[in-house]
Amino acid sequence: RIVYLNGAFLPENEAHISIFDRGFLFGDGIYEVTAVLDGKLVDSDLHMARLERSVREIGGRLPVSTDAIVAIEKRLIAENALTEGVVYLQYTRGAEDRDFLYSEDLPPTLLLFTQQKTIEHAASAEKGIRVKTVPDQRWARRDIKSICLLPQVIAKRAAKDEGCGEAWMLDGDYVTEGASSTAYLITRDGKIITRANSEVTLPGCTRLAVLALAQEAELTIEERPFTLAEAMDAEEICLTSASNFIAPIVAIDGKAIGAGTPGPIYRRLRALYIEHAR
Ligand code: PDD
Repeated sequence: RIVYLNGAFLPENEAHISIFDRGFLFGDGIYEVTAVLDGKLVDSDLHMARLERSVREIGGRLPVSTDAIVAIEKRLIAENALTEGVVYLQYTRGAEDRDFLYSEDLPPTLLLFTQQKTIEHAASAEKGIRVKTVPDQRWARRDIKSICLLPQVIAKRAAKDEGCGEAWMLDGDYVTEGASSTAYLITRDGKIITRANSEVTLPGCTRLAVLALAQEAELTIEERPFTLAEAMDAEEICLTSASNFIAPIVAIDGKAIGAGTPGPIYRRLRALYIEHAR
């Protein structure tokens, strides 16, 4: 695989990062994951806007423009002949002797690579995903796409141990979001419920696109927090993320949701999103 690191396109085994990189020592960095379908970036503008925001919020500065980043992503897709999967981008503050304080003129580290993944015909889109709930133990600025993912790594492991494909994070009785996805429920009268964007969750790019499509389709959307009890009693539950688009959730903590199979509103939204992604 050809990867991009600080201005160079290199075979992956020739790309090296310093042991003093602040991403490695402090988790001092942010990332983005953009889907690729039919060799094309999906919702690229939304991901670039969130990237710029994350970098700004940590007081960093991108070494190249977002237009240049999109050109890098397209070249990686072409060089690696990627038709379906994701492009991963990581920005860190750069490398220097270990100190919490950083030099203002430190050149950042910018790394991008592609990863093949079946998204459109993923088995989970038909079979559904089972979810385990865990306490949300993350920091208070979840709107920044930080590379500090230890709580999510632990949550996903706990979910996998119980045969679940995603963990839903709880703040008291309320669902914040999935370990790597936005959470939704659909009520019996067909309303789509998901949290409004705030510092409590990551503002999902897929969420933004799916809600716009839902609105065009004249579905009703209610942006508000919901409890685990409400989710357990919902007609349908689903998640969105760049790496899954939209996926149905069929059980929470072992209890089947609705009919226990992917529901009609999910199916409609998934079809609309795939059409939009093309
Ligand atoms: N995760 N919430 C969290 C905590 C996430 O990590 C993600 C994405 C999302 C969905 O955002 P988007 O629709 O922009 O992908 C919500 C990526 C895919 C990851 O960490 O791999």
